[in-house]
Amino acid sequence: MIIRPAKSINGVVTVPGDKSISHRAAIIASIAEGESRIENLSTGEDCASTIRCLRQLGVEIDQDDTTVVVQGVGNGGFRKPDGPLDCGNSGTTMRLLAGLLAGQDFASILTGDGSLCRRPMSRIIEPLSSMGAEIDSNEGKAPLSIRGRNPLRTTQYMMPVASAQVKSCVLFAGLNADDKTTVIEPVQTRDHTERMLRGFGGEVIVTESAEGRIISVQGRMHLSAKDMTIPSDISSATFFIVAAAGREGSTLEFPNVGINPTRAEIIEVLRELGAEIELSDVGESCGEPVARLKVSGRGRPKCEDAAKITGKRIANLIDEIPILAVLGTQIEGGIEIRDAAELRVKESDRIAAIVENLRRMAADVEEFDDGFRVGRSQLIGAEVDSFGDHRIAMAFAVAGLFAEGDTIIKNPECADISFPGFYELLESVVQR
Ligand code: S3P
Repeated sequence: MIIRPAKSINGVVTVPGDKSISHRAAIIASIAEGESRIENLSTGEDCASTIRCLRQLGVEIDQDDTTVVVQGVGNGGFRKPDGPLDCGNSGTTMRLLAGLLAGQDFASILTGDGSLCRRPMSRIIEPLSSMGAEIDSNEGKAPLSIRGRNPLRTTQYMMPVASAQVKSCVLFAGLNADDKTTVIEPVQTRDHTERMLRGFGGEVIVTESAEGRIISVQGRMHLSAKDMTIPSDISSATFFIVAAAGREGSTLEFPNVGINPTRAEIIEVLRELGAEIELSDVGESCGEPVARLKVSGRGRPKCEDAAKITGKRIANLIDEIPILAVLGTQIEGGIEIRDAAELRVKESDRIAAIVENLRRMAADVEEFDDGFRVGRSQLIGAEVDSFGDHRIAMAFAVAGLFAEGDTIIKNPECADISFPGFYELLESVVQR
């Protein structure tokens, strides 16, 4: 994929349905009773993996583009699959489904592509085993062979890593436990699972304590079908927001974007970095806050020192860090990211991928175990690699807009994981 520099970026951009919310909508509709109609489901390959696995588990799902109609089988109603469940590149598919499969009376196998089979799964194997499931793995990695048990034993699980996938996995297992299951999260992560379970009529009790946020669900929960429209994905919108924020004379608008506070930290950070972002048409869709976003480019945002982004806010913008790194090259003083070692176990080692690609584009960048620092730099077009990671591919497409000369992205097609049509949409709003 060849990306040429841009003068400005203008237009109205509709990004696909939110990936995280789409997974949860499809999964929870499958274990609810009755027919649910879900509109604006993510068109990405990750959600297609979830739908494929759910069908293999005996759920009837009709799909017409972004609309799916799910015939829920009820909680505990999955059928033993006829073969391994292939989660493709999708960590969310594997970790969320593992929670439900741990509570079924049959054995199943979860597998995925090369990247997914390198990612850590002991973080879910441990709590699920303590609840009574038997799980064999390849030294803590997929494929996972799960012998489920129904009902599972309840647990009170203190999360050692800030991960919404782990939290959701344990809560899903708790739906098939014999009593109340509790998860304590010291650092709040995205709360789509809690909201979606409530949307389908489930009870989720959340309290705050000195240890963190305490979330409980009751076993053998009954859920009822629900129709809904998924908000557009703020993480996908951020590639375009940064493109416009970094180019003077740009204006982009995004209708119907999810602005859940556990995801919208990126808006706060971009404003701190000098970006002009306005919200209007604030409303709600499937229990999630949504708004129309408008971003205006004012040239190079001004910050005297390196903007340092660390601590608890990292969990709420973890997927936006590759594109923030690119913005860092456009900011007086640059950006420093710390406390983000989780980036090393995403679809790629994102710290290594960001640092390598920025260096290839002649940026001033320093690598740390848990992050990086990038100084303001004139990017020079170069050949960069996606490392098979959708967010790296899209972040460096935007870097190409800011560069001098052409940028070539190797293995660009992985953008389809969360954003089919990304490059065409970007090209359609760029002025040269
Ligand atoms: C997700 C949670 C995050 C995020 C991923 C989607 C989710 O992962 O990076 O893209 O939908 O729950 P972790 O739970 O591993 O932090």
